[in-house]
Amino acid sequence: MDDHATRISAWTGLEAAARADAAGRIVDLFDVEPDRLKRLSLTAAGLSLDLSKQPWSHAGVEAGFVLARAADVEGHRDRLFAGDEVNATEHRPALHMALRAPDGASFRALGRPVSAEVEATRGAMKAFAEGVRGGKIVGATGKPFTAIVHIGIGGSDLGPKLVWEALKPLEAPIALRFVANVDGAEIAAALAGLDPAQTLVVVVSKSFTTEETLVNGRAARAWLAAALGEAGANQHLAAVSANVPGAKAYGVAPERVFAFWDWVGGRYSLWSAVGLSTAIALGWEAFAQLLAGGAAMDTHFRQAPPERNAPLLLALAHVFNRNGLGRPIRAVVPYARRLALLPAFLQQLEMESNGKRVDARGFPLSRGTAAAVFGDAGTTGQHAFFQMLHQGTEVIPVDIVAVARGDEGPADHQARLLANAVAQAEALMVGHANTAEPHRNFPGDRPTSFILLDRLTPAALGALIALYEHKVFVEGVLWGIDSFDQWGVELGKTLAKAVFAELGGGDAGAHDPSTAALIARLRG
Ligand code: F6P
Repeated sequence: MDDHATRISAWTGLEAAARADAAGRIVDLFDVEPDRLKRLSLTAAGLSLDLSKQPWSHAGVEAGFVLARAADVEGHRDRLFAGDEVNATEHRPALHMALRAPDGASFRALGRPVSAEVEATRGAMKAFAEGVRGGKIVGATGKPFTAIVHIGIGGSDLGPKLVWEALKPLEAPIALRFVANVDGAEIAAALAGLDPAQTLVVVVSKSFTTEETLVNGRAARAWLAAALGEAGANQHLAAVSANVPGAKAYGVAPERVFAFWDWVGGRYSLWSAVGLSTAIALGWEAFAQLLAGGAAMDTHFRQAPPERNAPLLLALAHVFNRNGLGRPIRAVVPYARRLALLPAFLQQLEMESNGKRVDARGFPLSRGTAAAVFGDAGTTGQHAFFQMLHQGTEVIPVDIVAVARGDEGPADHQARLLANAVAQAEALMVGHANTAEPHRNFPGDRPTSFILLDRLTPAALGALIALYEHKVFVEGVLWGIDSFDQWGVELGKTLAKAVFAELGGGDAGAHDPSTAALIARLRG
């Protein structure tokens, strides 16, 4: 069989295995497979995963491995780490792993060594972060910085914001606020109550062409300049970009521009200088530990055999549900308030990476790709959308992320929180039959992946994020798509520019009747 035929046959095998498994119930598989729990429980970079509540039998998991071999996941993984052109439509590698590798690594992007450059930038970042945090780098009036306003959107926002919310101290010596949306309410709220003389503004944009970020950056600069003058404002600005000339042209002092590279995808960039504000506000040691956790997951992904490989198994579980059982939605429920932004982060990571309808060569796909991801922190989500998870017409697989040991709040709260995480996973799988009262009947047989962090440390968070990054990569390989481009976001951006001009009184363009009516209604 040629490669294509092997893949087709592997997909057919997975779909047949899923159909066979759908005839039984997940919970019954524990009786017929005595080693099930052991086989489907694994550890990776300090995280524990239990995938035994997924709807696959031993044969179903094996069919997943056959598919992974047919798609050559290992070969693609090696190409990813080798810095080959895995982003075919943009002719780029995707080397976020180089950013979190310890000093002395030797990553290459399309053959060009990059690790020395990464370390040099990391050194500059560290010096700046420690200078600001330690009060050596001060504002125009000589006062230390007590607040940072981080301006960026998409990958230049979601990762750092997740990291900050997960790890910030209860009483932070340096406050960190985020501005992403072009909605003026957001910049207004971020600047409210801050003293410009003690505020550092960090403008983060890979391209330095993103409208929201440039507009918000200008507003923040004007706010600084009104209090400190133009020259003073410069001392309060830093920028992070892969377009260094663009950042300098924007008026940021050259020594305050921190570079990253076109081989870092926006949604994979929190490990780069995009993390500058978090490195300042959390302290360098925490940021370094975050990187170390991500690097530990990289090592696991490269070295663990398929049967123990967490990103691979998590991806296969998803594909088994998505393609084998036709489930196009997935919920992510972190039982940790500090991880409440994980679903939002994963929406970009998964849906921007894998929400594609053609393969890497541009041919239409015959199978579904990324599931729609939604979620919220447990237990709050239980009182909102869990009704649908338990009794809705669709089966929605759930990722439950929990933290074994929590250090905050009264002692019994953590046990109550964990009890809910465990009980929900049990209830979703086991259900509760009540034939007399159908509205009280819980069908069960609803799958979960259970991911457990021992503590919510920077390293554990880094490992968790990298776990999902690699899961998304594996899924992209199985589906044959380019996970690292995002052409689907372009059309709306282009049209918004034209509509903006029209709303401001410019000539009316050609539109469909509905759009034309909206523009007419909103024109100033
Ligand atoms: O939403 C599209 C997108 O290009 C994302 O991929 C990216 O993370 C975001 O915009 C921000 O882009 P930039 O960092 O270039 O401002």
